[in-house]
Amino acid sequence: MHSHEVNTQSQSYHAIVGFDILKESLYKFISGTKHDKLFLLVDENVFQHHGDNLIQTLQNFSDHVLHLIIPEGESSKSVKFWEKAVSFLLSNGVRRNTPLFVAGGGVTGDLGGFVAASVLRGIPLIHIPTTLLAMVDSSIGGKTGINHQTGKNLIGAFYQPRAVIADTRFLISLPQREWVNGLSEILKYGAIRDAEIFDNAAVFFSKDYHSLDQEKLITLIHKCIKIKAEIVAQDEFESGVRAFLNFGHTFAHALEKACDFNTISHGEAVYLGMLAALKLSDLCGYSITGQYIEPYKPLYQFRVKPGEVLSEDIYSYMFQDKKRTDEHLKFVLLEDWQSPVVKTVINKEHIKEAIDLMIIQLN
Ligand SMILES: NC(=O)c1ccc[n+]([C@@H]2O[C@H](COP(=O)([O-])OP(=O)(O)OC[C@H]3O[C@@H](n4cnc5c(N)ncnc54)[C@H](O)[C@@H]3O)[C@@H](O)[C@H]2O)c1
Repeated sequence: MHSHEVNTQSQSYHAIVGFDILKESLYKFISGTKHDKLFLLVDENVFQHHGDNLIQTLQNFSDHVLHLIIPEGESSKSVKFWEKAVSFLLSNGVRRNTPLFVAGGGVTGDLGGFVAASVLRGIPLIHIPTTLLAMVDSSIGGKTGINHQTGKNLIGAFYQPRAVIADTRFLISLPQREWVNGLSEILKYGAIRDAEIFDNAAVFFSKDYHSLDQEKLITLIHKCIKIKAEIVAQDEFESGVRAFLNFGHTFAHALEKACDFNTISHGEAVYLGMLAALKLSDLCGYSITGQYIEPYKPLYQFRVKPGEVLSEDIYSYMFQDKKRTDEHLKFVLLEDWQSPVVKTVINKEHIKEAIDLMIIQLN
């Protein structure tokens, strides 16, 4: 079991990673005392595979474990499901010290995090990430939120959890496609911070993800958690270095919107967004190619075809990005590998060229 302390201004907490560690971690880090009641928000697929285990484990800490199943998919990150979850908690007598456990990928995590942030102005939140992406990225750092029809993650709050328990046992049931989604964020850490990650990520070329060496996998997840924790500790509210974690994301979010948050996953969009950001870096005069990212392309199986998205749409959706502070678009570019920089780009043709490169990759 590896444990890493995440220190932010608003909260310090442990992020723990290991195989079959849920019960042990809960005993160690949550509390010895029995709670009057506990709430669990759980992704529907996670519930199907691991629901009994989750509930039985939580019953060690309370006689009343109440759970709500969240339908899988990005559309659950919505006002509708936020309202549903909030009503579930309030109508079942949630109090300010009642812990909320959130078990699932980034979708359930982002939604559940925002529920925890907003109910009674904040209740204790414990993330149990169950996708690779959520383990290496979304469960750490306190970004919570839901989507609005005008764009992604437009409603939300910074709200740190009390603990993150990344038990790789959950990954046993993770579909192939979801492993690759997690890979995108792992490659992002390689690009912006740590070249060694590219060596570690090479295990993904084996394609048989379920038989990945557990120790190697846990070490890789731990490395990513450490990077994210370091960046978040420096800049919890994204006024500086935290923006580097958005490498590829301005392109990715616009592409996701162009696909109605439906035919492309966040991880797939991030992968393509990074290729676009590398192209734009090159067009802006930094001498860089996609050499460390491109080799992974055969692992991605895109369900959307190039003719199904319009370059113009993607360009205009970028202007809805919430990180935009003036009339120009800002991008995280790479001056060199592991040397990210935030740049305002005003050359529309350069941006369009990068978008077109992203679209061609869908073939
Ligand atoms: N808050 C942040 O800092 C942050 C960072 C990165 C991404 N995100 C958000 O995360 C979301 C993407 O997260 P994701 O890729 O985890 O997607 P997801 O939550 O949609 O999960 C992907 C799929 O895997 C299934 N699943 C989850 N765990 C499983 C398991 N153990 N076994 C079987 N199936 C399982 C889910 O039902 C779903 O079908 C996006 O909304 C993105 O915006 C947030």
